[in-house]
Amino acid sequence: MANILTVNGGSPLVGDIEVRGAKNLVSKAMVAALLAEDRCRLRGVPEISDVKIVSGLLELHGVKIDSTDRDGELLLDPTNVEQAHVADIDAHAGTSRVPVLLCGPLLHRLGEAFIPDLGGCRIGDRPINYHLDVLREFGADVQKRPEGLRLTAPNGLSGTRIKLPYPSVGATEQVLLTAVRAKGVTELRNAAVEPEILDLIAILQKMGAIISVETDRVIKIEGVDRLGGYDHLAIPDRIEAGSWACAALATKGDIYVRGAQQQAMMPFLNVFRKIGGQFDIDDEGIRFWHTGDQLSSLVLETDVHPGFMTDWQQPLVVALTQTGGLSIVHETVYENRLGFTEALGEMGAVIQLYRECLGGSPCRFGRANFLHSAVISGPTPLKGAEITVPDLRGGFSYLIAALAAEGQSKVHGIELIYRGYERFSDKLDALGADYEVG
Ligand code: EPU
Repeated sequence: MANILTVNGGSPLVGDIEVRGAKNLVSKAMVAALLAEDRCRLRGVPEISDVKIVSGLLELHGVKIDSTDRDGELLLDPTNVEQAHVADIDAHAGTSRVPVLLCGPLLHRLGEAFIPDLGGCRIGDRPINYHLDVLREFGADVQKRPEGLRLTAPNGLSGTRIKLPYPSVGATEQVLLTAVRAKGVTELRNAAVEPEILDLIAILQKMGAIISVETDRVIKIEGVDRLGGYDHLAIPDRIEAGSWACAALATKGDIYVRGAQQQAMMPFLNVFRKIGGQFDIDDEGIRFWHTGDQLSSLVLETDVHPGFMTDWQQPLVVALTQTGGLSIVHETVYENRLGFTEALGEMGAVIQLYRECLGGSPCRFGRANFLHSAVISGPTPLKGAEITVPDLRGGFSYLIAALAAEGQSKVHGIELIYRGYERFSDKLDALGADYEVG
């Protein structure tokens, strides 16, 4: 696969595209299959490289994975789960953060788990301390080895009371995937309640779990002895839908995103409307468009759900370069998710980063030395440039910038974008983009 995209920008993106299952649900739904004693069927699975990575990891552990002749359907057969070879698992090191979520299910199924060094996007330190603390609370023993971490549960895993220091998506999923088969009741406080987490809970309930989501970020899980399979249609990818919506705005275009769902996108839709973007919701998707009038700047803070999600921030920043006046973006989820703006500066954007918490309430990063607030001055015409994709969402943002910019851009490293945006070159074709791969 060639990894350079040459884009002749400056034309509006116009047309229809479709988003399928959310990357950040599908990978966890696949891990949940490890807990099942029967076959699972997952529908709406997108063709992204993260799905291949998780499939590889599960296959190493004896899960049989087949696609059916229906597009986007995976069958997962976990009836012969087995211990994988350390060296094989290690071959997956540095590619995804999902392996840490295998720990609870593997401890239940096999009594031990091994995880290699973890990768994922370079958008901050992305530690796994919450995950390991949670697993220890359930009774796991964690040993550090040169090649990674080995976990055992000599006395099995038991339900517990946990309060997360921050409503981490991954740590909440770790608790869910571990507590469903632990002995007794688990009470989780300060849980993340993202729509993808609620969809994972729906899957676990189909499998036989007993989970209640209560007020104030409290989730209670009653452990059960056995979990069966599931048949589930994954929640659509609201990050991808929002990314294309930003592409419509930044290129003065008009994009119908089939599969986009209002409920999960409400924080995004509010912001889109405040800037001056238009949208129209029907039963099958959402149309997003630029009216031709000057867009307005705004002050925005990213946050855990129900806030404006961090993954929308990078594509939105490109659209904000085209609004009139000063916009402020305060990134409160990741300490280092604004570094991608440097290349936008080379394309003509005027963006200044600050260490202070600007435009909102103080966050965890305010006292540390992180450039986590941005002031964006617009509108500034963008011009083509040679840029290299820094991470998944930053990469898609560069694509938007290249499509909005006058002249030619070369975007290097586009293979990172395939981690989370399926068939994006087909979608660019459907939207009339002028580009070449290679
Ligand atoms: N954190 C810790 N310790 C931990 C875990 C997290 O300090 O053990 C910190 C992180 O460093 C970060 C914050 O907590 O500052 C939030 O991290 P969280 O655990 O919520 O994120 P995650 O589970 O690692 C998932 C998505 C991300 C998405 C975030 C926030 C997956 C595979 N990844 O990451 O998606 O940005 O939740 O919604 O589900 C992406 O799709 O591009 C992406 C990065």
